Amino acid sequence: MEKLIYEGKSKSIYSGNTPNTLRVHYKNTLTAFDGKKTASKQGKGALNAETSHLIYDYLSNHGIKTHLVEKIDEVNFIVKECQVIPIEIIARNIAAGSFSKKYGIPEGIPLKNVSLEFSLKSDELGDPMINSSQILAIGTATEEELKFMEKTTLKINELLIDLFKKAKITLVDFKLEFGRHNGEIILCDEISGDSCRLWDIETGKKLDKDVFRRDLGDVLKGYAEVLERLKKII
Ligand code: TMP
Ligand code: ASP
Repeated sequence: MEKLIYEGKSKSIYSGNTPNTLRVHYKNTLTAFDGKKTASKQGKGALNAETSHLIYDYLSNHGIKTHLVEKIDEVNFIVKECQVIPIEIIARNIAAGSFSKKYGIPEGIPLKNVSLEFSLKSDELGDPMINSSQILAIGTATEEELKFMEKTTLKINELLIDLFKKAKITLVDFKLEFGRHNGEIILCDEISGDSCRLWDIETGKKLDKDVFRRDLGDVLKGYAEVLERLKKII
């Protein structure tokens, strides 16, 4: 019997029918600002599931270990059960969002190197930014795990920049999560318009969740556009 084991903001997780796997259900809910702004949009779960599936497949074909086992229908994945490390890693190529606000760098300025930052995954605390020394002090991850996550995030950044460039999209920034599985660190969660900033390479038009965060129009139009472009090149 399946059992709901975690109800997230955009996904629900069920214990799987086979050992060591889980079923992830992509919901139609969109949230922003730690869940303070929410909406439900028909078709959102399916768009994100398909986009994330394409991207995870691409990464896996390029040597990145991920939790994905298979996509079983429009909105459901079977994934390897892993112990999620409660840290979000954000990689930035171009100033935007909280980085621009915090450091007074206008949106759209290219960064001189990839900026990596960590947040502690906690809705209650509002996902506070945390540095590596603090992570080690609390014991959320080991030094070796942190180094591996940083190195892998940089590799994923290169792979995604390449992929999106072929789709005429600029990868501005994105967020990743990792988990422990059989003694390894693997990529978990999703990669989609919910977790990346994606701008049209020519016009700069936003194709990601900022459209929802900032009330700029129909967010799903951008998500569908990204998916269509990826499908043509993958
Ligand atoms: P930020 O500029 O708001 O810090 O966001 C940086 C990137 O991380 C952006 O692509 C959106 C993504 N992100 C998430 O996926 N989840 C989150 O909870 C936050 C804060 C950001
Ligand atoms: N804070 C995240 C965002 O703005 C998600 C959320 O809070 O639900 O994208």
